[in-house]
Amino acid sequence: MSGGQPLFERVAIIGLGLIGGSLASAVRRGGLAAQVVGYDQRPEELALGVDLGVIDQAADSMAQAVSGSDLVVVAVPVRATRTVLEALHPFLDEGSILTDVGSTKSSFLNDVKAVFGSVPERVIPGHPIAGSEKSGVSAADPFLFANHKVILTPPEGADAESVQRLTTLWEGCGATVLTMSVAYHDEVLAATSHLPHLIAFSLVDTLAGEDENMDIFRYAAGGFRDFTRIAASDPVMWHDIFLSNRDAVLRVIDHFTHDLDQLREAIARGDGATLLTVFSRAKAAREHFSKMLSGQAYVTNNSNKQVTFTLQPGGTVQGDIRVPGDKSMSHRSIMLGALAEGVTEVKGFLEGEDSLATLQAFRDMGVAIEGPENGLVRIHGVGMNGLQAPRGPLYLGNSGTAMRLFSGLLAAQPFDSELTGDASLSRRPMGRVADPLRAMGAVIDTAEGGRPPLKIRGGQKLTGIHYQMPVASAQVKSCLLLAGLYAEGMTSVTEPAPTRDHTERMLEGFGYHVHRDGATASVTGGGRMTACAIDVPADISSAAFFLVAASIARDSDLTLRHVGMNPTRVGVINILERMGADIEVLEERVIGGEPVADLRVRSAELRGIDIPEDQVPLAIDEFPVLFIAAACASGRTVLRGAEELRVKESDRIQVMADGLAALGVETTVTPDGIIIDGGQEMAGGTVESHEDHRISMAFAVASLRATGAIRVNDCANVATSFPGFVELAQSVGIRIQAEGAGE
Ligand code: S3P
Repeated sequence: MSGGQPLFERVAIIGLGLIGGSLASAVRRGGLAAQVVGYDQRPEELALGVDLGVIDQAADSMAQAVSGSDLVVVAVPVRATRTVLEALHPFLDEGSILTDVGSTKSSFLNDVKAVFGSVPERVIPGHPIAGSEKSGVSAADPFLFANHKVILTPPEGADAESVQRLTTLWEGCGATVLTMSVAYHDEVLAATSHLPHLIAFSLVDTLAGEDENMDIFRYAAGGFRDFTRIAASDPVMWHDIFLSNRDAVLRVIDHFTHDLDQLREAIARGDGATLLTVFSRAKAAREHFSKMLSGQAYVTNNSNKQVTFTLQPGGTVQGDIRVPGDKSMSHRSIMLGALAEGVTEVKGFLEGEDSLATLQAFRDMGVAIEGPENGLVRIHGVGMNGLQAPRGPLYLGNSGTAMRLFSGLLAAQPFDSELTGDASLSRRPMGRVADPLRAMGAVIDTAEGGRPPLKIRGGQKLTGIHYQMPVASAQVKSCLLLAGLYAEGMTSVTEPAPTRDHTERMLEGFGYHVHRDGATASVTGGGRMTACAIDVPADISSAAFFLVAASIARDSDLTLRHVGMNPTRVGVINILERMGADIEVLEERVIGGEPVADLRVRSAELRGIDIPEDQVPLAIDEFPVLFIAAACASGRTVLRGAEELRVKESDRIQVMADGLAALGVETTVTPDGIIIDGGQEMAGGTVESHEDHRISMAFAVASLRATGAIRVNDCANVATSFPGFVELAQSVGIRIQAEGAGE
């Protein structure tokens, strides 16, 4: 507002308590009105308001306060509203805006109707969600609303410009303004504020009544103190609120009493399973809530976390380890489990940030999910049509897989949705899924250049198509097959080269038939899925770092257990074997429709090769570490046909070439690949990972053959796919330290 016209000429605050006083001083401080007038029945509060500089002027009467004010704010206790409205009604100018700050909104509107005969279009009820244990104008604080929410509940037919001006006023006080219906506001507040206060009052009263001396409180610990803090709130104000929001409060009390009864019965029956289900669901919800409050979208948010790897050169690699679960399968287990009927149990789930983002997104859509705990997850499927609209955008962090697969699934839901991600994900191309989905009838908006966020319109009827994929992408294929589950008729996708087929295999495991004919996979819409048990094997993409590590380090002998050996994923083994690696495949078996084996790797003299192009999609995520293998091999390695690497979490061709150059290894970058002459000395140096997990881990492996210490910057995202990497790498002999981790 600085310099220009203030937003309002004259603002009248009726009731100069904590909220009214704080609003008055925030308005004055922000220069949001030319004049702020206060009125209160208590002359001493008014005088204090002037002395403290909270208001410009104290009005002697309601008439003086309201006449000539273009905004009138009723800031009195809820039960006093009607009397105040009656008193101000005769003086309110027709063009003035009238608002309030009360905790219940239907009661305010009812009072307006009773006094005005109807609801004038400039009456805009409001509710700042802010407060303090203090009261009175002496506690007025111009920053009380900063970073707090204010809810406006414009009734039907409300004047849009008035809503806008009031929004601007509250934003000028530092608040975030939300708009919702009166009824919804009252329901939400009954549940999130009124009920907790009622329970706190009641619990403290019950316990105090048990013991006349209130001695019992001596033994109460922090949990009790935290839980009951709000029982010290103002009894008069709360008695007002409960009487004013009676209907909504009664509904939520009934709901809560019913749930409490069920817990009581479960305890009486010794039914531990029910208790566990409820508690773990609540724990997950509470954790999600804490993250939301601290501005984090899911389990952890690395945006502020700086992790640097420092690596001492040399070492051998020995041991017997199991790397974490497969990322692709972990995502899919949650997605299909959520849409199935019944409870799906997942073992070996990857507790990395990418798959946890998927898990959280389904919780946000109303799916009860227990865990993860030591890789165990139980998903209470809601059936094909049981997802609920999420309250806000679904934040998918770093995960391209999550965003692309979700887009297919959400395109067919009855509700609107929005998909967002971190800086890296926000640069990645989504047109490859949006375009074919649109051909099926989906309505999807992207940001410029087909980038996230994706805004997906719900309620569209999808029709099956046949899609010939221009790029070999399992994400695109899976996206369309998921959309196809909901489409009319058949959806079929033909791939230019084989890509990972976990979606097809897992759909079959859930009882949804996928017709496969050479390079084409098809589904017919309208079917159902039934819950099943899933055993996620160790991720071959994570194992790859150790396959290369043990191959390039001297005197190595390492066993990797339970590695997923799906033929569409074993490109890294095929390529390393061609280079002369010594990898023994042991105990081959099939578990839950996916081949699994133990791998024993020993040191070997690697040779450079021309990487067969048909292996590229089968090893697409393993190239960063394969480039390290190539740098340690004798002779030249040539990669072609891998332009996809340029649109992964980073441009993996350029970023790897730059990292190798920082260690003194020269390479030739081509548009679709790289040429690496092996055997050059690899010195120490500092490498930029560009926040790409696989780049960070690849250079950690490089240290085994470097001649000096390596520092890798921006490694926090290793947690997206490989939690515990540093500890596991240390345990087998890689001399790695992480700085800044766990802060
Ligand atoms: C994945 C497919 C691959 C891969 C990604 C996981 C999947 O991406 O790079 O890490 O789970 O479907 P594209 O399908 O885009 O190549």
